[in-house]
Amino acid sequence: MNGDFTLYTPTKVVFGHDVEISAGAMVKAFGGKKVLIHYGGKSAVKSGLLKRVQDSLTAEEIDYVSLGGVVPNPRLEKVYEGVKLCKAYGVDFILAVGGGSVIDSAKAIAYALAEPEKDVKELYEHTRAPKACFPIGVVLTLAASGSEMSDSSVISYEDKKRGVNSDLCRPKFALMDPALTKTLPAYQTAAGCSDILMHTMERYFVNGHRMELTDAIAEGLLKTVMRYAVVLRDDPENYEARAEIMWAGSLSHNGLTGCGNDAGDWACHRLEHELGALYDVTHGAGLTAMWGSWARYVMHNCMHRFVRFAMYVMDVKPCPTDEETAIKGIEATEDFFRSIGMPTNLSELGVSPSEDDLKLLAKNCAVAVGGKVGSAMVLRESDMEAIYKMAAK
Ligand code: NZQ
Ligand code: ZN
Repeated sequence: MNGDFTLYTPTKVVFGHDVEISAGAMVKAFGGKKVLIHYGGKSAVKSGLLKRVQDSLTAEEIDYVSLGGVVPNPRLEKVYEGVKLCKAYGVDFILAVGGGSVIDSAKAIAYALAEPEKDVKELYEHTRAPKACFPIGVVLTLAASGSEMSDSSVISYEDKKRGVNSDLCRPKFALMDPALTKTLPAYQTAAGCSDILMHTMERYFVNGHRMELTDAIAEGLLKTVMRYAVVLRDDPENYEARAEIMWAGSLSHNGLTGCGNDAGDWACHRLEHELGALYDVTHGAGLTAMWGSWARYVMHNCMHRFVRFAMYVMDVKPCPTDEETAIKGIEATEDFFRSIGMPTNLSELGVSPSEDDLKLLAKNCAVAVGGKVGSAMVLRESDMEAIYKMAAK
């Protein structure tokens, strides 16, 4: 409550052209001898990236086994498959080649291997806390989740999507070549930019203590991402823009933009996770579909932050009342989301929940957060239902 904070970012970042070919050397430097190379669907195979990474391990005489097939909103079944393979092969290091889904699946496998007698699902159910984790490295192909430096892993199972947070899973290294993200579909690029924005906005819309320097960093990051998201919409091959967005993705979720700002709000993320669990939507798009409704619902409780955001980030001129300024900021943000092809409500997201579904979403969200969530405004189940309803209109 008084601005004290701990920032722990142990991940070694190597950023720039062709850095992925140092994967073997990096694994070796961090002591890996038998590696699981974990990847997603087709993109890393098609681009030749997987082969380049495999070759770089071979060049360092490091044994590896490869496992692909991680899907967006990664599944626990794939985690179990990876654990079985790693145990059979004696893997001691996990190398994730992909975006947030691959990295999170790698983190789950790494947790499971470190406590082999226990079911890793318990971590996501929050019935026990992790005590250890195998080392992980990352070759990043999508700027979005920030998982390459974050303490978080989010896994889906049954009709749930749940996260576990612990410094134990922060990657040892992240190799970030912005050029690797040029093959992304436009929708994934835009959804990634939106997720990056939201990781800082979740830390920005808070009551309680904040630091001016942290606000300045956050506002600079938000403006930079909005600017380059538009550049990438028009010019997807632009390396400089890819680089700005990729670095923003890591800084947005490694803790930097929340230093001294208490714990953050995180309601939009929790509301989105239930959409992901029920409808398997793209994470960044689910966030933008919820944000405007959330903002209108909570703004009176956190007016000073919405006014500041409107003026400092969205360049809104002060209106006669704070409420008008705040609303203009919210509208400008929704205009921005639409301008890069992101949804601003559930029908634009492509889902049309029934009344019962809306109730279920709220109920599941309330259970997942242990009853309440938020800093801009503390939300309970009835608030969550009201926000889902607003987003569904
Ligand atoms: O599977 P492939 O063929 O690789 O295709 C993927 C996937 O379909 C594709 N893709 C990735 N890199 C590509 C590419 N396509 C072409 N070229 C490339 N270079 O993009 C699609 C989406 O990939 P995914 O990894 O699912 O996206 P993202 O990085 O946005 O990760 C989303 C997941 O991360 C979680 C989300 O909830 C979601 O499950 N999050 C993880 C966080 C964390 N661990 O800190 C925080 C976030 O808030 C978020 O919750
Ligand atoms: Zn996110």
